[in-house]
Amino acid sequence: MTASCGAEPLHLQVNGQARSLEGVPREATLLHVLRNDLGLNGPKYGCGLGQCGACTVHVDGVAARACVIPAHGVAHRAVTTLEGLGARGSWHPVQAAFEDAQAAQCGYCLNGMVMQAAALLARDPQASEARIRAELSGNLCRCGTHIEILDAVQRAAVRMRAGAMP
Ligand code: FES
Ligand code: FES
Repeated sequence: MTASCGAEPLHLQVNGQARSLEGVPREATLLHVLRNDLGLNGPKYGCGLGQCGACTVHVDGVAARACVIPAHGVAHRAVTTLEGLGARGSWHPVQAAFEDAQAAQCGYCLNGMVMQAAALLARDPQASEARIRAELSGNLCRCGTHIEILDAVQRAAVRMRAGAMP
């Protein structure tokens, strides 16, 4: 953060690591801090208004839109970004399923789709097609890849029910 405004130091828990930052303005969004201060570019800036889902992260395991959350509002809470979900060689089942289903065109929406789906399947691995559709209805894909995305999430659900570990 370039400008200091006298805000309290910000203490975050991001992807299992404690991160402390100085000079983060009270109004700074979580998305801004993740991308600009911590170099975590998994969450994307789409609308900036909480309406497209591109910026989705998990806060205490719940999908949340980082573009409208004040960073200071999630101090000491567990924030997970796409980078913390899985990595090459140890993908989260949702990430692996998206790869298998080739559920991307430009890929801009994928962070949000994956994070939203991972949060859903963590609490409901039995999620029906209708439930998955409802859960992802607020995540926009301008490329129209919805059918492949739905296929990927259903594949991930099958894997998780079969014991694949997140
Ligand atoms: S960028 Fe956050 S919902 Fe669109
Ligand atoms: S794949 Fe391009 S916005 Fe979804």
